[in-house]
Amino acid sequence: MTHRIALIPGDGIGAEVMPSALRCLEALSRRPGLNFEFTDFPYSCEYYARHGVMMPADGIEQLRPHDAILLGAVGYPGVPDHISLWGLLLPIRREFGQYVNLRPVRLLRGLTSALRDRGPEDINYLVVRENNEGEYSDIGGRMYDGLPEAMAIQANVITRKGSERILNYAFRLAESRARQTLAYATKSNGIKHSMPFWDEQVAAMAPRYPAVNVEQYHVDILAANLVTHPDWFDVIVGTNLFGDILSDLGPATAGGIGVAPSANINPDPGVPSMFEPVHGSAPDIAGQDIANPIAMIWTVVMMLEHLNENDAATDLMSALEAVTGEGKVMTRDLGGTAGTVEFTDRVLAELG
Ligand code: NAD
Ligand code: IPM
Ligand code: MN
Repeated sequence: MTHRIALIPGDGIGAEVMPSALRCLEALSRRPGLNFEFTDFPYSCEYYARHGVMMPADGIEQLRPHDAILLGAVGYPGVPDHISLWGLLLPIRREFGQYVNLRPVRLLRGLTSALRDRGPEDINYLVVRENNEGEYSDIGGRMYDGLPEAMAIQANVITRKGSERILNYAFRLAESRARQTLAYATKSNGIKHSMPFWDEQVAAMAPRYPAVNVEQYHVDILAANLVTHPDWFDVIVGTNLFGDILSDLGPATAGGIGVAPSANINPDPGVPSMFEPVHGSAPDIAGQDIANPIAMIWTVVMMLEHLNENDAATDLMSALEAVTGEGKVMTRDLGGTAGTVEFTDRVLAELG
């Protein structure tokens, strides 16, 4: 089968970990029956500097005919973040209705948790982040700029359709797992309108999934529990911003942001889903061949699973965990000395 993949390396280390992904995909495509057709898209802050936009007006239409989009990272000093992200990453998530942001948190073999006495059996959960609405809305505005009365108002939009579809996805995912437990993040004690509405959708849906244990947490204590009791968690669902924060916190306990993968999924066929590491462009370490490519390689595994290339996905994940498990070649963020390229070489050698 041939899969058409749109590549957006983007900015900073995004463009440095993309070759790691491509080398893995090229190695896998030597197998009979597995082929990729790659198309490169140069959309980035550099593109913005030349053209005044992050992508052309028909950028979304150019991306549409692909089976998946693989993205490095977007955003770099010199272009304000709200311009670069609202010019590229966020429109892709929205225009293609990628309403699920799936972010696994699992301590890989050989990695040490920042939490004392915690091993791989303690840290293994999935963060399901609502990816199209919530706190990330473009509804709002500023008033009285420059005056002492200056203010900004930002709407938090929770729709029935938007919450039902993400909650259904999370319930189904929890139902399919051994522990069948769904924790949901709320803040209905302090956020008066949107969060009680969100809680009501959960309560209305729970009877349809009788096998699933549903647990409610206000997001503040949920964050604390991810540190003190990560073993309590199986599937966690949250609104856009809560999911964003929890999906940096979780990886911080499991090897760091350099190992965290993510998938922006529209489960309906016919539109591309997008795969990207959780991390950003890391300007502080860009251009030095020291970025950890684990997040990107694990992201490729998620893309292969989405494309139903399950054997290739399993083999790539096994190769990755064989290398981390062995612990000889590690990047600096994990206490080693290997560069991005050297680590990738080791994974490819393992993949054979
Ligand atoms: P960041 O993830 O880029 O970096 C945070 C810290 O983690 C830095 O110290 C960085 O060196 C380190 N780090 C990140 N990835 C690493 C890796 N693979 N290996 C080793 N160390 C790694 O987050 P930030 O500093 O908040 O953001 C930088 C830029 O990236 C901003 O413009 C931001 O908006 C953007 N951003 C983009 C995405 C995305 O495209 N999906 C995600 C997050 C941030
Ligand atoms: C992420 C990032 C983005 C987000 C930013 C860069 C807009 O932090 O993918 O988690 O908040 O979704
Ligand atoms: Mn984030």
